[in-house]
Amino acid sequence: MCGIVGYTGSKSAQPILVGGLKRLEYRGYDSAGVAIEQDGELEVVHRKGKVEALEHTLLHFHFTGTCGIGHTRWATHGRPSEANAHPHTSCDAQIAVVHNGIIENFAELRENLIARGHHFTSETDTEVVAHLVEEEYARGASLLDALRLATQQLVGAYALAVVSAKEPGVIVCTRKDSPLVVGVGEDGSFVASDIIAMIEETRDVVVLSDGQFARLTSESVEFYGEDGNAFEPIISHVDWDLDVAEKGGYPDFMLKEIHEQPRVIRDTLAGRLVNGALSIDELDLSVEELNLIDRVYVIACGTSYHAGLIAKNLIEGWARIPTEVEVASEFRYRNPIITPTTLVVAVSQSGETADTLAAIRDARVKGARVFGITNVVGSPVARESDGVIYTKANKEIAVASTKSFLGQVVSLTLLALLLAQVKGKLKMNQVRLLFSELADTAHQVETILEDTTAIDRAAAACVDATSALFVGRGMGAAISYEGALKLKEISYLHAEAYPAGEMKHGPIALIDEGFPVIAVATKSPVYDKVISNLQESKARGAMIVAIATEGDEEIVKHADHVIYIPKVRDVFSAITASVPLQLFARAIAIKRGCDVDQPRNLAKSVTVE
Ligand code: G6P
Repeated sequence: MCGIVGYTGSKSAQPILVGGLKRLEYRGYDSAGVAIEQDGELEVVHRKGKVEALEHTLLHFHFTGTCGIGHTRWATHGRPSEANAHPHTSCDAQIAVVHNGIIENFAELRENLIARGHHFTSETDTEVVAHLVEEEYARGASLLDALRLATQQLVGAYALAVVSAKEPGVIVCTRKDSPLVVGVGEDGSFVASDIIAMIEETRDVVVLSDGQFARLTSESVEFYGEDGNAFEPIISHVDWDLDVAEKGGYPDFMLKEIHEQPRVIRDTLAGRLVNGALSIDELDLSVEELNLIDRVYVIACGTSYHAGLIAKNLIEGWARIPTEVEVASEFRYRNPIITPTTLVVAVSQSGETADTLAAIRDARVKGARVFGITNVVGSPVARESDGVIYTKANKEIAVASTKSFLGQVVSLTLLALLLAQVKGKLKMNQVRLLFSELADTAHQVETILEDTTAIDRAAAACVDATSALFVGRGMGAAISYEGALKLKEISYLHAEAYPAGEMKHGPIALIDEGFPVIAVATKSPVYDKVISNLQESKARGAMIVAIATEGDEEIVKHADHVIYIPKVRDVFSAITASVPLQLFARAIAIKRGCDVDQPRNLAKSVTVE
């Protein structure tokens, strides 16, 4: 999704803006641009494609100006093109704007602006803001007031940063439903849609709330509330290591993040067993209230939805509460049955996915209690939920989610255990035993990561396939969905997942000589059934890759490639079996020459519908 960065200070803005934009690349984008104040004018440069292309172009200009704004765009209104890339400017080119979000009433505003003589150069919703600010400025407002008056006319979501050649060295900014952070540094002031964009320059930040404004100059930042009154902000110090944003010796972020998973499991579980009982204080619900819960909806998108599929098995299995899992974009437009004893669990790595947020709001209006499970502290999902569990994955850079997924599965497992504990469906000693086995998965994942030979061999056998089928039963089915998604996301190889029992109702027709069938065939109560399904596929020529339990010799008779993983209780196989599937997808993608960190057409966080 789009990214914003801005700087005003004593240093040259160009390298700071480009550096910030590079740090935002992980979000996914299709074009990039900057506006830099240079000799009393605004110099605007856009490029379609990567920030690197923009950087090359800028090298020819050598701007020395010390104030500017930059943007990476992920197309919503108007195709990816140079003309549609931000910053967008006013008719007189004296005002430049960068924007994240969507201006819903832009068509009407644009029509009216054109009728009043404004000339548009892009197809974007954003450009109306530049013209609205221009009008207010022409009426005598300061840049800050012009932005305030302009936003009063906007309907939709926005994070905005604006510069003007007429107010040199000043950046004004505001937000509504789209994140924006202001940084206060020794060499100037910063604004960005994500702290990571400015972390090399400053670690002292103010997270703006909806409706707040900031006016940045090289020496100071002034903050204003929705009412226009100045306020003293709370400055937070961010102590992230810079290496969080770097690859740490791995060839790509995806591999680095896959290897961080044992740590994520340990951190997510740390401090959860207090005096022999499970405790999740952040949920902010009394035991009595938890006990009343009689229906659970897990709502999420993408990979987070697959974590929900796993949670359904756990919550129903342990706590015996009927649980439905639904993609947020469907949930928000249905009329689900919600009562005050319904618990909605919203799962979102970024904590800012538009559909998930809308579903949360809808569920709360209908009276549900909402728990958020997210990776981003202070994110909209965290703020708008009644309680929140943080997944402790730390910043995830690769677009395809891996460590966050595992963090979500572990967090949802904790929630399922807690519900079972409160409802008395599991005895305390059972909860403790399960918790300790859950904690053991950290070491089991380490074992899987130590030797990936079998995974690489299986991947090499599938690299030229045009399609692949992932199958499993029970937990194995839920894991298969995520395995197939990972493969298609990063390798562009078509992949589908089916519960293995459904094979003969359609998908088996796809199978011919050498067709890859990837089966989650770990030891479970449905193991024999999975083997029967594999035999049916094998008889039709499928090339079978099986994820199997260490010590299972039978599986070798049915599979062409076996990837062994340590023996765990079936409910925890979601954690262990997901890891080889992540590595399998990555190995195929690398062999096919794909950029595993930034797959085409995908965005890390989807803040538009
Ligand atoms: C995008 C990402 C996926 C992610 C999904 C949901 O599509 O590319 O990796 O699973 O959004 O995101 P969330 O942040 O809500 O988990």
